[in-house]
Amino acid sequence: RQPIIAIDGPAGAGKSTVTRQVADKLGLLYLDTGAMYRAVTWYVLECGIPVQDETHIAQFLKTCQIRLEPQGDSPQCRVWVNQHEVTQAIRSPDVTAQVSTVAAFPAVREFLVRQQQEYGAAGGLVAEGRDMGTQVFPDAEVKIFLTASVQERARRRQLDLEKQGYEVSLSQLEAEIAQRDQQDSTRPISPLQKAEDAIEIQTDDLTVEDVVSQILSHVPS
Ligand code: CDP
Repeated sequence: RQPIIAIDGPAGAGKSTVTRQVADKLGLLYLDTGAMYRAVTWYVLECGIPVQDETHIAQFLKTCQIRLEPQGDSPQCRVWVNQHEVTQAIRSPDVTAQVSTVAAFPAVREFLVRQQQEYGAAGGLVAEGRDMGTQVFPDAEVKIFLTASVQERARRRQLDLEKQGYEVSLSQLEAEIAQRDQQDSTRPISPLQKAEDAIEIQTDDLTVEDVVSQILSHVPS
């Protein structure tokens, strides 16, 4: 069977760009699970549901259909929630600020993990997220854990946001990233964690090409 490659790590470690390139090189599907959590968060905000209201959110999941589609050379998939295209909207500062709260609810994780595993059952893929190697694809052929310092991740995030027309200071981004790290790694369900059998790559001083070729060197041919 075609391999499953699980790529995990904290916000801004470069997962999207690297994952997209690895998927293209191997001719496999690219699965951006962060985009799925962002899409649910966008929907919750759009429907006016308080982000703390787990019961209400769980009910609304029944009416939330998420679709992902790769676009050109971009590291970001096009994303739809029902009939709305939300590709840009899910990257907004509002969604970013709330996504870790929504992603901590068991009902939300069950809803999305089931869909992620269906993609994996259909064929090989390269999946990025927080719990790919630990929870969603524990039998993945290759598991990678990407890291970088908070300063470097804030710098990369600032460049990304600039391209989308948002201007945010480095110190604010560092604080936001540190807070999201804290929330993602201390939640009781599927916390951000390196799988025991994952290969850790510290990316501060590596180019995207370096990271991609290191990952490819671990893929069995
Ligand atoms: O792009 P960025 O690194 O900022 O984050 P992302 O991959 O888009 O994920 C956004 C948020 O979704 C994370 O901070 C987590 O709270 C949540 N997430 C998760 O809980 N599990 C995943 N498999 C992927 C994302």
